[in-house]
Amino acid sequence: MNYHIVTYGCQMNLHESEKIAGILRSCGYECESGLEEADVVVFNTCCIRENAENHAFGNIGSLKKLKKSNPSLIIAVGGCMAQEAGKAAWLKSKFPFIDILFGTHNLPELGELIERKRREKKTIISLKEERVATEDGVVPVRTSYPNAWVNIMYGCNNFCSYCIVPYVRGREKSRRPEDILKEVSSLVEEGYKEITLLGQNVNSYSGEGGMRFPELLEKAAEIEGDFRLRFMTSHPKDFSAELVQVIKRNPKICRQLHLPAQSGSNRILSLMNRRYTRETYLSEIALLRREVPDCEVTTDLIVGFPTETEEDFRETLSLVDAADFSSAFTFVYSPREGTKAAVMEGQIAEETQKDRIMRLVERVNARTREKSARYVGREVELLCEDFDKKKDVYLGRDVYGRMGYFKSEKNRIGDFVTIRVTEANGISLYGEAVN
Ligand code: SAH
Ligand code: SF4
Ligand code: F3S
Repeated sequence: MNYHIVTYGCQMNLHESEKIAGILRSCGYECESGLEEADVVVFNTCCIRENAENHAFGNIGSLKKLKKSNPSLIIAVGGCMAQEAGKAAWLKSKFPFIDILFGTHNLPELGELIERKRREKKTIISLKEERVATEDGVVPVRTSYPNAWVNIMYGCNNFCSYCIVPYVRGREKSRRPEDILKEVSSLVEEGYKEITLLGQNVNSYSGEGGMRFPELLEKAAEIEGDFRLRFMTSHPKDFSAELVQVIKRNPKICRQLHLPAQSGSNRILSLMNRRYTRETYLSEIALLRREVPDCEVTTDLIVGFPTETEEDFRETLSLVDAADFSSAFTFVYSPREGTKAAVMEGQIAEETQKDRIMRLVERVNARTREKSARYVGREVELLCEDFDKKKDVYLGRDVYGRMGYFKSEKNRIGDFVTIRVTEANGISLYGEAVN
């Protein structure tokens, strides 16, 4: 029997889809297949912005025909969108052919829900308010060798005024340090070469015995073996000098910090409930660069937040230069029902938002291009992670988070490959392998 999983959203969700695959395997679905050949299809959804939801609606809607031609097909919809208040009932009425709706906290039960569905005719809806345990006992089917993700915590307590995540992922719960470190160790033993520690706000990790994130990170970095360590996402309000020292002391930790700034304007940051200022943000980066001079910083930025003026927006533009970001994810503010910002006065017109996002992307790209150009002629070490069949090239990232491409006769996935960069194009580097 075959399964097909469609994933939207962040790395957290991609990793959860690996867990969903693990559950499906234990239910007797052995092979991952295309949509048309599947016996069960699972949509692991995201609701961070309106377009993420619309994308899922379109794809779920298009399954109506498939279900008609194959009535024994099981269609399950889970993830953040299913967890939104009132959304599961709405999805059921809009897409009555959905068999199972499960929330973010119900993922470990998916196997039982499928069993129940095989016996019962009606749509099964299973939602919980909060996550009960930090260990779900699910063995993921990892699909991104040589990279592996490890959850260190779940949920978020921050309630940034624009964000739906705290409503759909519940309160922060940290996993036990020993469980995390055991998982990292066994991944390294299995041959994984890059481990990413995952949480919505890793800097507020609080493990059993009072363990904080810097200590956990250092313990993970001290595990023996040839691997790299990444973590995401850090929140600037919980950034610490101790974290900088841990990065400095441990060469296994990648020289790239993803530190979402969201805006360069203090007035907007305060309305966003981010609890830091432009000045403290910049001083954190300055400290990082003083101690780890080659560390790159990447970020997330939002334009068009309610009441954002041209002047506020220009402060975001100038932050791109002041912080010297090597790249940034840029978003147009999307109102999310139930959040504080959605009911604020002063929502920004779409035209203005479009104009601002274009100008921001231009500014970010100019900086990225300039940084990429400096790579030409230099050697960089990539962890080769994939092969692009269309372009006939292998690809991988360096410790600064840059993507590099090279040709090779033999399979290099999982190898640390040094390339001499011959060309830089936007964020990507092209070169020849020298080892
Ligand atoms: N926990 C992480 C980010 C999670 S969401 C953090 O705090 O940094 C990833 C990014 O989506 C956020 O950093 C933010 O830039 C963006 N985002 C979240 N809600 C949004 C919304 N309503 N509209 C537009 N972008 C949003
Ligand atoms: Fe959302 Fe803020 Fe939590 Fe990140 S820290 S998930 S942006 S509420
Ligand atoms: Fe991630 Fe989207 Fe949920 S960004 S946490 S999948 S709302």
